[in-house]
Amino acid sequence: MHINDFKIERYFAQYEFSARYLLSSSDCDGYAIKYVLDLASDDDLQVWENQTLGYTETKGSPMLRSAIAKHYQTLAMDNLLVLSPGEGNFCLMNVLLEKGDEVICMAPMYQSLYQIAESIGCKVNFWQPDYDNNNWYYNPERLKALVNNKTKLIIVNFPHNPTGYIPSASDWDEIINIARANNLYLFSDEMYHLLGANPAYKQIPACELYENAISLWGMSKSFGLAGLRIGWLASKNKAILAKVEAFKDYLSICNSCPSEILATIALNNHSQFITPNNEKIRLNIKYYEDFAQRNEDLLEFSIPRGGSTAFIKLKTSKTAMEYAEDLVKKTGIMLLPSETFDYGTHFARIGFGRRNLPEILSVWEAYHRSV
Ligand SMILES: Cc1ncc(COP(=O)(O)O)c(C=O)c1O
Repeated sequence: MHINDFKIERYFAQYEFSARYLLSSSDCDGYAIKYVLDLASDDDLQVWENQTLGYTETKGSPMLRSAIAKHYQTLAMDNLLVLSPGEGNFCLMNVLLEKGDEVICMAPMYQSLYQIAESIGCKVNFWQPDYDNNNWYYNPERLKALVNNKTKLIIVNFPHNPTGYIPSASDWDEIINIARANNLYLFSDEMYHLLGANPAYKQIPACELYENAISLWGMSKSFGLAGLRIGWLASKNKAILAKVEAFKDYLSICNSCPSEILATIALNNHSQFITPNNEKIRLNIKYYEDFAQRNEDLLEFSIPRGGSTAFIKLKTSKTAMEYAEDLVKKTGIMLLPSETFDYGTHFARIGFGRRNLPEILSVWEAYHRSV
């Protein structure tokens, strides 16, 4: 299988562990293992200390799946398959799609969500947003217009990386109705579920609302535990999950058991992880709003509805890539340019989940005033 480079991940590979400041991360600061273990019950600690380091169940341990199931209203343990988040996407596309199928995918989008389909030989039709002064809107009417008799799958991601967009409840219903009315699968990447500064914007997982929806969530973003490499697919369609499970035999086969235990503890103490992340995002958005007001000549920004990122418009004469390269060279600030999203040359992603954002903004402002 030929697959194009994953541009965002290649750009991060270049700078994530060498640049001094990360302005564009989509994850929040990672919690320490000690923080997780301090929340463990006596029973959890018994499991942690006595667990042997052998293979685990391909589906995910029953202990972990039952902790995940508590986060859904209408799903149970056997509606879940645990894997690493990117692996979930890779396996699912491979079991659902064949060459010649058409899929609809939001744009801009985390590349793997359309790249794998393209590599399989599918045609990807992009659902474009309406844009007005950094307000993003994904109109379900535009989605409906993209459906044809070859369409097999709709791929969405809310809260959306990078814009932070979350549809209204009625638009979300409309999106689900479009999938149902046309008998399409719906892959709903919900990696940023429950993450965001404004609790008014919440979304019911697609897997609760539609029998042919498959939702992806995991520990990386909402919980600040990306290093666990634990995510899961959730669906009422167990036949699809069984196919994905069989495909997983060719990749990781099973999950890391220390990660499964730590993930279980975190899920059972979810508010100790998600609430501080949301508080940090809320404060950072405030700082960022002030920064954006002071630097209107540099960018367009509006407060994202959810998630941990925003997609700002740069008003610079340089392209976003040229600007980002100069910024990292002169200040050590890594900014993710829109070229890595295949989305033009004048946007950039900002991440709100890192505690040193105020310091980064002051370095960026000094750079901006100096050029
Ligand atoms: C929308 C989206 N889906 C999936 C993933 C994959 O998550 P992970 O990096 O934990 O595999 C990411 C990571 O950035 C993401 O932004």
